[in-house]
Amino acid sequence: GFSWKLNDHPKLPKGKIIAVVVLDGWGEANPNQYNCIHVAETPAMDSLKKGAPEKWRLVKAHGKAVGLPTDDDMGNSEVGHNALGAGRIFAQGAKLVDLALASGKIYEGEGFKYIKESFETGTLHLIGLLSDGGVHSRLDQLQLLLKGASEHGAKRIRVHVLTDGRDVLDGTSIGFVETLENDLAKLREKGVDAQIASGGGRMQVTMDRYENDWDVVKRGWDAQVLGEAPHKFRSAVEAVKKLREAPNANDQYLPPFVIVDDNGKPVGPIVDGDAVVTFNFRADRMVMLAKALEYEDFDKFDRVRFPKIRYSGMLQYDGELKLPSHYLVSPPEIDRTSGEYLVHNGVRTFACSETVKFGHVTFFWNGNRSGYFKQEMEEYVEIPSDSGITFNVQPKMKALEIAEKARDAILSRKFDQVRVNLPNSDMVGHTGDIEATIVACKAADDAVKMILDAIDQVGGIYVVTADHGNAEDMVKRNKKGEPLLDKNGNIQILTSHTLQPVPVAIGGPGLAPGVRFRKDVPDGGLANVAATVMNLHGFEAPADYEPTLIEVVDN
Ligand code: 3PG
Ligand code: CO
Repeated sequence: GFSWKLNDHPKLPKGKIIAVVVLDGWGEANPNQYNCIHVAETPAMDSLKKGAPEKWRLVKAHGKAVGLPTDDDMGNSEVGHNALGAGRIFAQGAKLVDLALASGKIYEGEGFKYIKESFETGTLHLIGLLSDGGVHSRLDQLQLLLKGASEHGAKRIRVHVLTDGRDVLDGTSIGFVETLENDLAKLREKGVDAQIASGGGRMQVTMDRYENDWDVVKRGWDAQVLGEAPHKFRSAVEAVKKLREAPNANDQYLPPFVIVDDNGKPVGPIVDGDAVVTFNFRADRMVMLAKALEYEDFDKFDRVRFPKIRYSGMLQYDGELKLPSHYLVSPPEIDRTSGEYLVHNGVRTFACSETVKFGHVTFFWNGNRSGYFKQEMEEYVEIPSDSGITFNVQPKMKALEIAEKARDAILSRKFDQVRVNLPNSDMVGHTGDIEATIVACKAADDAVKMILDAIDQVGGIYVVTADHGNAEDMVKRNKKGEPLLDKNGNIQILTSHTLQPVPVAIGGPGLAPGVRFRKDVPDGGLANVAATVMNLHGFEAPADYEPTLIEVVDN
């Protein structure tokens, strides 16, 4: 039968304190002026790199190596932390939705049958991120769902769009809205009453995460459900064009708007008897809205009206909370994660980040599972993030506080694994502010230094890695790798993640002599890190885990 017991590693001892440090959005790329990691002063990370090839190497953090549909898909934190923690590659939400749409199975599932009950008399509302970024959602999936839903009987459809500019270039939202408007016009020709009903920028409207700022969700609720927003327009194309005329306007931060008819009445508030689908496949920035849509008891903001609807997520966003209770596509079943194994094998674990990345190093790391495996052996600490600001204003974020918590946890000797996520290079990189991103990278490096010093003091081991690229390339490039210019001759700032590989570094006084990176896993990816960490804790990884990156040679 199944057992959580891991075999002892034949050569490596148990009982070493291991720091596992994940730099969020820290990839490896050519050194140039748009590589903020290169431009920033990063002595700690630079010194790790000198250990190449035996103690420092690169691993894949994008595409199929992390369960995404194609190798053109950039990495992201969800799939990156899933792979790091689970040690295996699971087909991820993006891919599972593609398959369900292609086979038509999505329309036979429980979730679709459930919402379909409302099609005769109610409106179908689709809420989600409108772009082809492929991180939280994809436009082509929305397009297929619109077509499929109308073919399966939806007669009145309202789309509530969230503009991106974060997983895709800023300014692209107009094009996405135009494409969607075209599709909806075609549906109208076929007799389906289909329109965009509301919208707003993803960082202002709906897509908060880890309960950092419920006002974001409330702004969305007001527009989507109540039909109320500070801005009213006759069409979404007009809305996005007008709102982008404001100084420093940006797709990510557009204010909420509703679309109104000739009489100034909102065209699509959500009312009793309607069906709602949140079409993001990724959980972290949809689960708060899912709570507001589903929970009878809810005190995070005044919903004013709580419509009786049939609600389905694209996926189930939280398997522990079973939220939402209805969903169109089953999420990946990420089981037997390294965290769960290690806790059953006596490894006491401490995990910490600040709010905006806290769930990454806990929920995503643990295979999209909330809470502890064995509370008495684990401690997860969340440092409150600054809220209501864009992170280029405070690029150091809480890196120092996270490092201090990790240092204290290491020095306390109460934990065998101390795991952190340092968000700076990612969160500031997403703002597109190059100067601030350079400051962010240095702050993350300072934090690494503090953690490595603590590991030195206790004779421990460190594993330093990243979940995907971001700050190492801040400009959109052509196929030849040259920076692309916009029509005014300015470089096009890349706010998104990248396709770049990320570093993995091992070391520390506790690392047994003879441990080094193997040469026979050249294509290693993030999923190979879990077995590596298990080995360093003194265990062999389960047989179906991706192979370890290390070997032990006799000196
Ligand atoms: C976000 O949600 O902020 C971005 O879409 C992706 O960033 P993350 O994958 O690093 O969280
Ligand atoms: Co990111």
